[in-house]
Amino acid sequence: MNSTDYNLPEGYSIRLMSVDDYPAISAICSMVYPTERPYTDQELEAHHRLFPEGQFVVVHDFSGDVAGAHFTLLIQLKHFHLDDSWETLTAGGSFADHDPEGHTLYGADLFIHPDHQHHGLAKALTMATRKLVSKIRLWRMVGGSRMPGYGKVSERIKPNDYIAMVRRAEIADPVLTAHLHDGWEVITAIQGYLPHDTESAGWAAVIQWLNPECKTPAAFSISRIPLKG
Ligand SMILES: CC(C)(COP(=O)(O)OP(=O)(O)OC[C@H]1O[C@@H](n2cnc3c(N)ncnc32)[C@H](O)[C@@H]1OP(=O)(O)O)[C@@H](O)C(=O)NCCC(=O)NCCS
Repeated sequence: MNSTDYNLPEGYSIRLMSVDDYPAISAICSMVYPTERPYTDQELEAHHRLFPEGQFVVVHDFSGDVAGAHFTLLIQLKHFHLDDSWETLTAGGSFADHDPEGHTLYGADLFIHPDHQHHGLAKALTMATRKLVSKIRLWRMVGGSRMPGYGKVSERIKPNDYIAMVRRAEIADPVLTAHLHDGWEVITAIQGYLPHDTESAGWAAVIQWLNPECKTPAAFSISRIPLKG
């Protein structure tokens, strides 16, 4: 992949995940998600087998180390609820629900090793996924953004009010602000997306990016996807 396509900082490359990357990916997950079980080799192998072109890694050229990753799968959003959990949307992290007929690229995970954060790598990986959306003519990309600044204020600020404050840049959230800077639109706050995510008080923001080259038919708009109720 050509680095200039993604505004990658010098000294990094983006490529598709390979089997040799699995241990490094699990090690990064243990660092950035201390309350979650990291991916197993079997899960990463399943992602690779089901949808190899949707699993991106960014590599630090000098050391050869994996610096971060972005994992995606294809879904038909109408088969889900807007407030379904990450477990449901990824079939327990297996990606067994990957649907080659799906028109929505679901962003299941995006993480950068702490030593390599704030270099524009998440932004570059996001550009790589959008290029895939464009290449295979999908309608959109959808994801759930953690909001790890929310836990500290959850007793006095409602989740959608918190999101509005982050959007107005009155406060910065370590994850949601990054997504907003990368051009995502927030749809709504949802509860229980990652139940162990105490930093976000169990809340997340449903986020969407629409492909300007392939309009979503009105009947399939994200606004038509119901909540579990
Ligand atoms: C969220 C995360 C992926 C961002 O990665 P990153 O490579 O540091 O982000 P980038 O350097 O590409 O920054 C992208 C934009 O977000 C902004 N940003 C990044 N981190 C930020 C922070 N902590 N606070 C405010 N803004 C931030 C950057 O300024 C940049 O905006 P700009 O281009 O307008 O300057 C990274 O912090 C991470 O891995 N966190 C832990 C795992 C996680 O929670 N992933 C998200 C799952 S939903």
